[in-house]
Amino acid sequence: MNQTSKRKIEQLRICAEKEVEVRENCFTDVKLVHVALPEVDKEEIELKTEFLGFSFNYPIIIASMTGGHPETRRINEVLAEAAAALGVGMGVGSQRAALEGEEHEDSFRVVRDVAPDSFIYANLGAPQVKEYGIEGVERVIEMIDADAVAIHLNFLQEAVQPEGNIDARGCLTAIKEICKAIKKPVIVKETGGGISYAVAKKLHDAGVSAIDVGGLGGTSLAAAEIYRAKAEGDELSEHLGNLFGWDWGITTVESIVECSAIPFPIPIIATGGIRNGIDVAKSMALGADLCGAALPFLKLVMESVRADNVIKRIQEMGEELTVAMFLTGCKTMMDLKEAEVVITGKTREIMEQRGFFERVKRRKRPAS
Ligand SMILES: Cc1cc2nc3c(=O)[nH]c(=O)nc-3n(C[C@H](O)[C@H](O)[C@H](O)COP(=O)(O)O)c2cc1C
Repeated sequence: MNQTSKRKIEQLRICAEKEVEVRENCFTDVKLVHVALPEVDKEEIELKTEFLGFSFNYPIIIASMTGGHPETRRINEVLAEAAAALGVGMGVGSQRAALEGEEHEDSFRVVRDVAPDSFIYANLGAPQVKEYGIEGVERVIEMIDADAVAIHLNFLQEAVQPEGNIDARGCLTAIKEICKAIKKPVIVKETGGGISYAVAKKLHDAGVSAIDVGGLGGTSLAAAEIYRAKAEGDELSEHLGNLFGWDWGITTVESIVECSAIPFPIPIIATGGIRNGIDVAKSMALGADLCGAALPFLKLVMESVRADNVIKRIQEMGEELTVAMFLTGCKTMMDLKEAEVVITGKTREIMEQRGFFERVKRRKRPAS
């Protein structure tokens, strides 16, 4: 078994069993304005969403998590079963382990076998994109007959890991080359640190098709490193994980607003702390086009390896979203994008300092 494979299973167990969520949920600073006269029939509310030309029954996607170890095959299988049953999309976890050892391909391929018609995206870290080049990206796409590929950025986690990939030079050039050479849409995805306006603009200029903000607010993979470091007696990594793992980064809320403010915006996925349908509604109202969650689904699958719990939870999130849409007078996702939001607290302060608060206010017209 390669080191990457071993790390992936350790990370999965830590995330499922230990405290890895950041303490502050940025969505508490966002409020949707209640509309006492919604003038909408709740039964007619439409959750269907288009993203990169694909149709989803819910604006929800199962975010990248796993694959790359024999035990992860069944988890991917179950997640894919849920995605297929509901008509939502799914991302696999980093396929680095499969590039390092063909025996791991099956743990990813199972997703396409189980969900032949679903939107599935491949996944590879930016350092591996540099290392394996266009051919490597083509391989991960082919491995699961992917509809898109996500290149993930996780320098926050890499920086606290003893074996982390810390040479971040040349990633943008590599991303640009991939966008030029690969026919499928390229998504660039953070994994807990969030993406700023400036980085989003660079990614847009590089030819990226969509951005997953992967903001601060939910799972912290840097915090997950604390437990691994502790078990290995690595005091420095443990210290760095504690220092950076709990509040470093751009929040999901702030990142959605900044990424959607670039000229000629591209579609945005919100991940990082999306825990219910109200968070989904808030994200869409702030500028997201799709919302992803990882840890909540992982926990359900680790409790009992069955698709029905994940299916039930996504359906429930859909119901929660429907109520939020009803109470803001929104019949469609397009309406939700116009819904009025109020931003308070630390998030408002950050937005004001960064110059994005006025923009959110301007974009929203008060509910009539
Ligand atoms: C166990 C676990 C493994 C993950 N592995 C990957 C990965 O391989 N590639 C990736 O892009 N993101 C990965 N992520 C990040 C998620 O896709 C997501 O962006 C992040 O967890 C925030 O969402 P959440 O708060 O709903 O968990 C992983 C998350 C978890 C919990």
